[in-house]
Amino acid sequence: MCGIIGFAGYKNAPEALLNGLSELEYRGYDSAGIACFSDGVIKVLKSVGKVSNLRKELPPDLLSFCGIGHTRWATHGGVSKVNAHPHTFGCVTLIHNGIIENYHELELILKQQGKFPISQTDSEIAAMLIDSFYQGNAYTAIRDAVLQFSGSYAFCIMFSDQPETIYCIRKGSPLVCCCSEQGSIVASDMVALLRYSKDYFVLPELQIAKVTRNSILVTDLEGQECTPKLLSITWDLSSAQKNGFKHYMLKEIYEQPESLRRTIMPRLRKTDDDSVLLLPDFTEDNIPDSLFSNINRIIITACGTAMHAGLIGRILLERLLRIPVSVEIASEFRYENPILDKYTLVITVSQSGETADTLAALRLAKNLGAKTLSIVNVKGSSIARESNAVFYTHAGPEIAVASTKAYTSQLAAFYLIAFRFAYLTKLQTDTQCSLLSSKLFHIIPDVEQVLMLADKVKKISRNLISATDLFFIGRGLDYALSCEGSIKLKEITYIHSEAYAAGELKHGTLSLVTEGVPVIALATQPDVFSKMISNIKEVRARGAFVICITTQDAVIDPTLYDQKLILPPIDPLFAPFCTAILLQLLAYYTSLLRGLDVDQPRNLAKSVTVE
Ligand code: F6R
Repeated sequence: MCGIIGFAGYKNAPEALLNGLSELEYRGYDSAGIACFSDGVIKVLKSVGKVSNLRKELPPDLLSFCGIGHTRWATHGGVSKVNAHPHTFGCVTLIHNGIIENYHELELILKQQGKFPISQTDSEIAAMLIDSFYQGNAYTAIRDAVLQFSGSYAFCIMFSDQPETIYCIRKGSPLVCCCSEQGSIVASDMVALLRYSKDYFVLPELQIAKVTRNSILVTDLEGQECTPKLLSITWDLSSAQKNGFKHYMLKEIYEQPESLRRTIMPRLRKTDDDSVLLLPDFTEDNIPDSLFSNINRIIITACGTAMHAGLIGRILLERLLRIPVSVEIASEFRYENPILDKYTLVITVSQSGETADTLAALRLAKNLGAKTLSIVNVKGSSIARESNAVFYTHAGPEIAVASTKAYTSQLAAFYLIAFRFAYLTKLQTDTQCSLLSSKLFHIIPDVEQVLMLADKVKKISRNLISATDLFFIGRGLDYALSCEGSIKLKEITYIHSEAYAAGELKHGTLSLVTEGVPVIALATQPDVFSKMISNIKEVRARGAFVICITTQDAVIDPTLYDQKLILPPIDPLFAPFCTAILLQLLAYYTSLLRGLDVDQPRNLAKSVTVE
């Protein structure tokens, strides 16, 4: 969603802002703009489309050391220059990420005062309201305005009579800040701060940051000075660059052996020096054992791909713990008045840690007295900070909109949590938990082997480039993977695709399977293999073009498929890691061969900070 950057420093602000916006491009956007103090006045530049369009409009002689920049992902009002940020009203120029839900009521009040917006955005109304309270004191104007807003926001605000200063405030939407030798910088996420510093802080909600070139002063709404907690990141700028790969998505697919290693290895320990038992240990994560005691139900809630990781997590947890586990779409869960108590563990899953619906689901779960654990990639993000405990996936920065390495790290997190839970509650023997843990560790070479199939997958994907509809089918773990394969493919190839539990096809969808329709059939699970073969026969009999993903020892009549991909020898419980990578590659190459924007598919945003 919208990307925000603010810079006050010693180098050329327009350049710093445009670089920051380019680094935030991956979040998804449709227009961009900057505002800079230059010769004591605020100059605003906006354009529709890519940041490169904005760069072309930049006057070469624009000299400034302080400014704000924004990439917009349209919510209220269409994609146009007038709706692009920054918005100016009176003394106020601002950029905004989020949604002011009561903007219409506020607009009516402002209209009664004879004030009319020129754009269709809720953000301009915010600028108007802050301006209406401004009489020279930025703090009181911001405070009085935010007390009237409902919804979510991260603002960077400049006042025309306060040169070289930016004020920031947030609620619900992210904003991180850092100070460096080159100046002070604020942004929607760490990726835009990386070139300046590895140390940063998350601006606490409803606190105001006054950003000048030498300092960032944080105060609460009562004016008390606050000291936010400093965090630091372990990766550097090169982790957030393409490093020779054509796309971020491909780079991130290939990073999976490493991202899995980083997620799994620090959590596996021998029980003592002489022991042969290797078990998950969450001491360093500060996840207390008590989190797993007296639990009679688990609810996993998340959105999109993170929710699909939860579908795998559910099967695993139920198999090992024999307690009921359900997976809820966060945007549904939050409005369903769910039945939760202190015996319920709610696991929220999020790469960004900022997804608005997942955050709301977490807050609801906490309010209703459930224990909460989050599986999050971005350190210090809202979901991580607000959960009772957090399991960080150490996938590193994920830039491509389509999630790949974050997903497999989420899977690894579920495996580790399930094994630890089963060990602590003695629902599996220590030896069994140890055996499973070492098998998890051994998936890394299997994943490396699967990546070697990339050329074969590329050839197979040629069969999909002119498809208009296709289906993914599977049973059990393979059904959960079908859901993930389908979302990955549709989001970056724009081919209509659906995932079905294979046994469900004949209850309606089979009518859509006709001559040549591609069906990607996952048959990696021995317990349902023969049933799966029957389902493949059903689609084959209707003329489907079948691409089968299966295991080495599986015997399948060659007349039942057109193309086959075989996993390396692997325990079926761990096959999802390998299958997922084949599905990611299939989506990647199909999108590439269709000539599409793999990393930034239309209409989508990386971090969905609005409902
Ligand atoms: C799909 C994808 C999305 C995200 C979803 C949740 O490839 O990336 O479906 O998984 O928007 O995002 P996070 O994990 O940041 O909560």
